[in-house]
Amino acid sequence: MCWIFWYRGKNDAVKILLHGLERLEYRGYDSAWVFVKKQSWDKSRIRAVGKVSALNWKVTDFLDAWYTQWIAHTRRATHGGVTEQNTHPHISNDGNRTIVHNGIVENYASIKKDLIKKWYRFDSETDTEVVANLLEEIHKDSKSMLETTQELQKQIRWAYALLIMHEGTPDTMIALRLWSPLVYAYNSEGEQYFSSDTQALSGYADKMIYLEDGDLIKVQWNDYTILSNGDVTKRDIETFDQKILEASKGEYKHFMLKEIYEQPAIIKRIYKWRVSFENNSLHADAFHGMGNESIKQITTVACGTANNAGWLWTYRFETLSKIPSHNEIASEYENKPFFLDESKLHIFVSQSGETADSLEVLKMLKEQGGKSFGVVNVVGSSIARMTDSGLYLRAGTEIWVASTKAFMAQSMCLLLVSLFLGKRRGMRLSKYQQIMRELEHLPSYIETVLDQTDHIRSIAMDLMQYKNFFFLWRGYQYPIAAESSLKFKEITYLHSEAYGAGELKHGSLALISEEMPTIFNLPNDEMFEQNLSNFQEIRARKGKICVIGDKRVEEADRQITIPETIDEIYPFLTAVAGQLLAYHVADLLGNDIDKPRNLAKSVTVK
Ligand code: F6R
Repeated sequence: MCWIFWYRGKNDAVKILLHGLERLEYRGYDSAWVFVKKQSWDKSRIRAVGKVSALNWKVTDFLDAWYTQWIAHTRRATHGGVTEQNTHPHISNDGNRTIVHNGIVENYASIKKDLIKKWYRFDSETDTEVVANLLEEIHKDSKSMLETTQELQKQIRWAYALLIMHEGTPDTMIALRLWSPLVYAYNSEGEQYFSSDTQALSGYADKMIYLEDGDLIKVQWNDYTILSNGDVTKRDIETFDQKILEASKGEYKHFMLKEIYEQPAIIKRIYKWRVSFENNSLHADAFHGMGNESIKQITTVACGTANNAGWLWTYRFETLSKIPSHNEIASEYENKPFFLDESKLHIFVSQSGETADSLEVLKMLKEQGGKSFGVVNVVGSSIARMTDSGLYLRAGTEIWVASTKAFMAQSMCLLLVSLFLGKRRGMRLSKYQQIMRELEHLPSYIETVLDQTDHIRSIAMDLMQYKNFFFLWRGYQYPIAAESSLKFKEITYLHSEAYGAGELKHGSLALISEEMPTIFNLPNDEMFEQNLSNFQEIRARKGKICVIGDKRVEEADRQITIPETIDEIYPFLTAVAGQLLAYHVADLLGNDIDKPRNLAKSVTVK
C-alpha cells in the first residue's frame, strides 16, 4: 500500500510535500521519495529507503529551484523488496512516461511476459514499472495520451490509483482510480493537489473531489476534466472543512497511548450525537435506514480489528434485537455465496472506509441487489459512499496505525444499533433502561481501567519475558480476546492466540506450562463459575494466569480489576485492559510503537 501526494503551485513545494508525507507517515510504509521536474531534461528522482526523515537531507539541493511538477510518495512493499530500485516513480523505457501507483495490478505478470518478448527491460520488480512500459507500448498505436490511458484502463486489472506524466504534454497530469482512494483538490490560489488521503491536504486545499471507480481525470493549469467510461462527467465538489490536523502526541509518549486515553471522550462525543440520557432515548434520525421492520437477518462484514467489533455485536443483535446474526471476515466472504433475500442486511464496519477486501464484498453485494449499512469513521470514504445508509463513528482521525479508539467507537455505534433495533422489536423496558444507565457510567468506568496503567505496566514486566500467550474467553468475550490478542501480536511481535476456555481441554491444554501464560477475560457474568473450572485446569499444569475481571480471583497470579457492570458493557472494559497490556509489554520491549513493523493504516490491496 502506497500513499500519493502531488502538488503543483507557486509555493515552496518541497516543504509542502515533506509535510504531506509526514502526515501520511501514520499509515505505515517502508520507503519514500519525491520526484521533481523543471524541464524534460531536468528531472530528478530522490528516493530513500526507511523514514521520511531520511529524505530530508537528500532534497536540500532542490530547495531553491523552481520546479513545476512535484510528487511525493510513500511505499509499503507489495511487489519486490524494500529497495531504492523498487521505490516509485517508475519511468517507461523511452523515458517519456513517469508513473506513480497505489494498489496492485493483478494481471501484471502476464503483461510483463508479453512486454519482455517485445524487448522491454525492467529495472525493478514492481507492477508499476510494468504499467509504465505498457503505456509506452499502447502509445505506439494510439493518437493521444488520453486515448492511450483509456486503452490502459481496459488492459489492467484492479486495483489502482495512478498518476501519469507524459513528456509530450508537460502541463497535463492524468490520473485514474479503481478501488484505491484518490482525491483531486485545489484552492483559490490556483494550487492543485492529488492525494490518496485527505489528511495530507488539510490546511492546503479548500475544495476537493473524491474520484470514483473507473474515473479518469485530466488536470491542466486551472482546469480539469473527468471522464467515466469515456464520457465527460461531473463529480461533487466538496468543501474541505476538516480542521487543520497538527498531529501531536501532546503529553503522551506515543500516539497509541494518546488514542487509548481519548476513548472516554469519544464515547461522550458519540452520545452527544446519538443518545439523550435526559429522555432515555436514542436520536432516531441518526439510525435512518435501520428502521426497517423487515430485517430478519444481519451479517457483519469487516477485516481485522473492525471485524472483531462487528463480530462482538452479532451477539447483541441476537440477544437484544432478536435478529439472527453472524459475522464474516471480508477476505473470506467474497469467496462464498451470499444467499440474499429482502430481509437480509449486511453491516460493513470500517475505520478507513477504504479496505479493499471489504469493498470487494460490498461491490459484489450491490451488484446482486443486497442491502447494506456502513459503520465508518472516515467521512466521504468509499464504504461510506457506497453503502445504502450508515452511521459515522465520530472518533476523529485515528493516527496510530493499529486501531484502538476506532474499535471503541465501532463497538459503541453497533451497541446503539442493537438497542435501536431491539427497542422496536419489543425488548424488555427494564433491560433497555439498565443498559442506558450503565452507558451513562461507561466513560468513568473506562477511566478507572486507564487509572491502573502503572499496575498494568508492572504486570507487563512479568509478561515480557515469555514468548507465547493464550488469551482465553467464553461466550461474548471471544471477539475481545481476539482483539486483545491481535493488538498484542501487532506491537509486541510475540505469539498469542485467542482460545475458548471450554475448548482448551479438547487438546490445546498440551501447551500449558510455566512457559505459556494465559490472559483470562473473566468478568463476573453468568459464565464465571464455568470459567473458574477452566482456570483450575490451567493452575493444575502450573500455567501462570493474569485475570481481567471485576471479581477478585484469589489464585490468579496477577489481576487487572475492571468495574462491576453488565454483560453488554464488560467488553468495553476488557478491551481497554487488553490495549494497555499490549502497549506496556511492547514499550518495555523497546519496540517502535508508533511505527509498528509490517502494518499499514488502511489496507487498500487484496
Ligand atoms: C489492527 C487494524 C486492522 C484494521 C483492518 C480494517 O489494529 O487496525 O486490523 O482494523 O485492516 O481496517 P478498516 O477498519 O480501515 O476497514
